[in-house]
Amino acid sequence: MDHRLDPMETIHARLSPIIAHRGASARAPENTLAAIRLAAAEGARWVEVDVKLSRDGVCILMHDDLLRRTTNGRGEVAQYDIDELARLDAGSWFNRRFAGERIPTLVETLELCLALDLDINLEIKPCPGRQHETAIRMVETLQRHWPAGRPWPLISSFAVASLEEVRLHAPEMPRGLLIGRPTKRARDMLDRLDCVTLHCDAKRVSRELVSKLAATGRPVLCYTVNDPHRARRLLEMGVASIITDRPADLQSALGARQESRQ
Ligand code: G3P
Ligand code: MG
Repeated sequence: MDHRLDPMETIHARLSPIIAHRGASARAPENTLAAIRLAAAEGARWVEVDVKLSRDGVCILMHDDLLRRTTNGRGEVAQYDIDELARLDAGSWFNRRFAGERIPTLVETLELCLALDLDINLEIKPCPGRQHETAIRMVETLQRHWPAGRPWPLISSFAVASLEEVRLHAPEMPRGLLIGRPTKRARDMLDRLDCVTLHCDAKRVSRELVSKLAATGRPVLCYTVNDPHRARRLLEMGVASIITDRPADLQSALGARQESRQ
C-alpha cells in the first residue's frame, strides 16, 4: 500500500479491533520487545507503545518519566544517555523470567514490528519540557527507518504540542488525539491538528461520541479495557479498536471480529 494515500482513508481499513497496550503487558513487561513478541504470539495485529527520549535524544520505549517502576534504574529517564539506559534491566521487576530484558530503542521496535508484520500505534509520551523535541526525533527516526511503500504507524499523544510538530514536519503521518474526557474543545482540536483518530478513556465513551466522530470520518479507539464483555459492548457501540493489556483474552472472547482487517 502506498503510504502517501490519504491517511484518513487508509486508517479505517487498517485498524484492528484489538490493540495490545504497551505490548501484551499483562503477561510480559510493558514496552519491551518481549511484550511485543508476546502480543504477536497472542494474535494481536496492532501494538501500542509509549515513546520518549534519552538525554542524548534517542527515541526509546518507556511510559513513566521515572525509571523506578519498570527498571532497576533510579532517577529520571531524561537524565540518562542511551548507552546508560541500554544497560538497565527492564524485565525483572515484572518477573524473574524476564531478567535481562532491555529498554528498547524505537529503531529496534520498528524492526521487530516489521519482522512480525505488526501495525503500530506510537504514543508520544514526552518527558516534561520535551514535547517538541520528542516529536521531531520520532519523525526523523520514522523517515530514516520506515520502509517506503508501507503505511506509516499511527502516531498519538495527549501532548498537543507534539502532535503539532508531527503535523508541521510530516503531515502525511497519521495522527490520533489522546484524551481523557471527550469535551467539545477536544473534538475541535481534532480538526486543528488534522487528526484521523480519537483515542479516548473507555470510561468516557458514549454512543453519541462515536456517531459524532463517525460523521467526520474518524474512528474512536478506547483505552484500556481488559474485560471481554466491556470490550464487546464498546465494539457494538461502534468503537473501532480496544487498547488492552490482555490481547489473548479479548481475542478468544471476540473471536472472528479480529478477522475484519483486509
Ligand atoms: O494510548 C493509550 C494509552 O496508552 C494512553 O495512556 O498512560 O497508558 O499511555 P497510557
Ligand atoms: Mg500509552
